[in-house]
Amino acid sequence: MSIAIVTGAGGDIGRAICRSLAQQGHAIFATDINMETADITAGEIVEAGGKAKSVRLDITDPQSVSSAVSSAIAEGPVQVLVNNAGLCHAESLQSSSFEDWKADLDFNLHGSYLCFKAIEQHFIANRSGVVINIASVNGQGVYGHPGYSVAKAGLLHLTRQIAVEYGQYGIRANAVAPGTVKTAGWQARADKNPNVFEEAKRWYPLREVADPEDVAQGVAFLASDKAKAITGICLPIDCGLTAGQAEMAGTFSQSNDYQNLT
Ligand SMILES: NC(=O)c1ccc[n+]([C@@H]2O[C@H](COP(=O)([O-])OP(=O)(O)OC[C@H]3O[C@@H](n4cnc5c(N)ncnc54)[C@H](O)[C@@H]3O)[C@@H](O)[C@H]2O)c1
Repeated sequence: MSIAIVTGAGGDIGRAICRSLAQQGHAIFATDINMETADITAGEIVEAGGKAKSVRLDITDPQSVSSAVSSAIAEGPVQVLVNNAGLCHAESLQSSSFEDWKADLDFNLHGSYLCFKAIEQHFIANRSGVVINIASVNGQGVYGHPGYSVAKAGLLHLTRQIAVEYGQYGIRANAVAPGTVKTAGWQARADKNPNVFEEAKRWYPLREVADPEDVAQGVAFLASDKAKAITGICLPIDCGLTAGQAEMAGTFSQSNDYQNLT
């Protein structure tokens, strides 16, 4: 049975990704800095009849990354790495410090680099491996959170770098870029403004925001053989956000058809 390593597996998106990869038959290495939530993820999968193990992995600590990935390889083969752990510190450049900037890059870019470097030789030796980086629409346009966005843009480039340099070994690398996803990560914003999700929906062509399962379905597809010819791409899971803005199209075209809500 091949192993899938997922970072940030105790979070809402990480947990949904672990569930969907377990349904595809992978044994799950559910890694997180928070063992309490990682245990819950692994426990849910085992209870549903799958195979899973919770392992502590702090993506900001090279030693921790290397020892967690080595323990997965020891039980190998590892077939899939999902770099999912991510978090933002700063809201704007004006309000942020160099420390915030560095923390955002460490957490959202360097951590994924470290995880890939820890699995690189195993994938090369096996002549196969799949990397899926959880990026964000923030890596493609400005929606606030500067350090996080720069890191996610870097993660998209890292994805292409792996695809091009390691394709010769049968290694594929792709990213998914979610827009707003209803998760606990939004709790602080929801506490400040209980209508935050309703307000966010306005900007999405589908007038909806994604669920963690929507992201997990995209990841499961990219991890599967159905995507064997796909590498180096970024799959938007953003309810149309990056396709364009209906409100703006209405202004530019002077047509009411873009916002015909009747
Ligand atoms: N929620 C959204 O709206 C949204 C939108 C776009 C992209 N994303 C991306 O999806 C991914 C998951 O987001 P989420 O909303 O589920 O986040 P979350 O905050 O719910 O979960 C993040 C997980 O990472 C873990 N974590 C924290 N510090 C860690 C560390 N040092 N090492 C390892 N793990 C650590 C946390 O314990 C938590 O389980 C992130 O990469 C995020 O940037 C989320």
